[in-house]
Amino acid sequence: RAVSRLIIVSNRVAVPEAGSKAVAAGGLAVALKEAFNAYRGLWFGWSGKIAETPSGSPAIADRGRVRYAVMDLSPQDHREYYSGFANRALWPIMHYRLGLAAYSRADYAGYQRVNRIFAQALASLIEPGDLIWVHDYHLIPLASELRGLGVANPIGYFHHIPWPSGEVFNTLPASTELLRAVADYDLIGLQTESDVHNLSRNLVDELRAIPLGGGSLMVDGRRTRIRSFPIGIDVEGFRQAADRAGMNRTVRDTVAGLRTRKLLIGVDRLDYSKGVPERMEAVERFFASNPDQRGNVVFLQIAPKSRTEVPEYEQLSRDVNEVLGNINGSLGEPSWTPIQYVTKAYPRAVLAGLYRAARVGLVTPMRDGMNLVAKEYVAAQSEEDPGVLVLSKFAGAARQLPEALLVNPYDRFEVAEAIRAALYMPKAERLERWKPMYERMAREDVDWWARTYLADLETFRTVEREPP
Ligand code: UDP
Ligand code: G6P
Repeated sequence: RAVSRLIIVSNRVAVPEAGSKAVAAGGLAVALKEAFNAYRGLWFGWSGKIAETPSGSPAIADRGRVRYAVMDLSPQDHREYYSGFANRALWPIMHYRLGLAAYSRADYAGYQRVNRIFAQALASLIEPGDLIWVHDYHLIPLASELRGLGVANPIGYFHHIPWPSGEVFNTLPASTELLRAVADYDLIGLQTESDVHNLSRNLVDELRAIPLGGGSLMVDGRRTRIRSFPIGIDVEGFRQAADRAGMNRTVRDTVAGLRTRKLLIGVDRLDYSKGVPERMEAVERFFASNPDQRGNVVFLQIAPKSRTEVPEYEQLSRDVNEVLGNINGSLGEPSWTPIQYVTKAYPRAVLAGLYRAARVGLVTPMRDGMNLVAKEYVAAQSEEDPGVLVLSKFAGAARQLPEALLVNPYDRFEVAEAIRAALYMPKAERLERWKPMYERMAREDVDWWARTYLADLETFRTVEREPP
């Protein structure tokens, strides 16, 4: 039988340079590496570019086994669909931040319009045997649009971020339409059981969906299935990168600069869901109650800027600068800066080495779908001298990493106490906590995630569909 094709759709698509290896260093590209060995691949989405008058048909580039098909966005589409509805309405609501949500009808219309444009461009590329796997909140209406164009292939969706309870989700003016749209997917993958519970429950309450068992639901006379597939990482790859990182210049200079000081590390996109200023305040609290540790410990926060055209992100950036300035100004000495803050993005080779060098990984999002940094920190530790993960109980990763020091990120006293416990933890306990986390992550790694999801999506090949 001919190898069938997997179509991946995501808002952000990074087309690798011509001639370079087919897979980039991070994110979805790594997650799908193995899947692209089992299938022929087509990856469709936004080019990341804005054009005054974008072409209605995608630009095609072949890289190894994967064909890329990418579209530019007009300035208005980018503003309304991406910065507007996806990142000022859906993102805050999905992360339980009602106070930060900014809904506008124009933005929602733009969101629907771009999903329609994408569906039209994609439909002409789809062949009968293809599996279609759509990623993330930018593209919730895509399946409805494709079905409207007569596409009968299995279409799956994976939601990388949290799915909140109906009490929160239904505050979004477009909520009912979005629920109908998401139910048009054959398979809806979520990160955690609680996300599955929230969405299923809301479909029952709002759309009178009928649960059929095994995660299947009948919604408006159509069947959908909702299951959790916690995304993993390339555990072995990370460990190897950490082993090799001693050779890296940035890692070596950082470690040398520490001298005998212990390192706490945080790595996040600069996003209000990550709890960066709250974490800095917890570190301040730690130094306030452990004055003997001043000068002995430094906190390095790497926080590349993200979505800078969205006002709430600009505000966050100013807030962080202020908190940081106050803490370093009041606690620091000419010979010691308590918090080092960099907004540059670092490649995996560097991060792996810095994780390894850090005695404590501080991963304290206020809310997070999974949080891969938590997993990467654990993967990068060595059995000889593993560090300690301090992890927010509101990150999806907490379900798979219960041996971490789990904290409530809203409570800076609790986080400060966890930092202290982590710094003083004897090696035997560090090892005892680290080992089961590492082993679980190695079993449930990124290949396991893609394989499990796709095996489920494959079962929808035989479903008979009514014509639209
Ligand atoms: N990352 C990176 N360089 C940086 C900061 C982050 O490559 O300077 C990567 C990090 O290693 C991780 C990803 O970005 O793989 C962030 O994923 P996560 O799930 O933690 O958060 P998200 O940004 O997706 O909300
Ligand atoms: C999160 C989202 C992704 C998104 C990424 C970076 O991981 O789940 O869908 O691509 O953040 O954000 P950006 O807006 O730069 O694509």
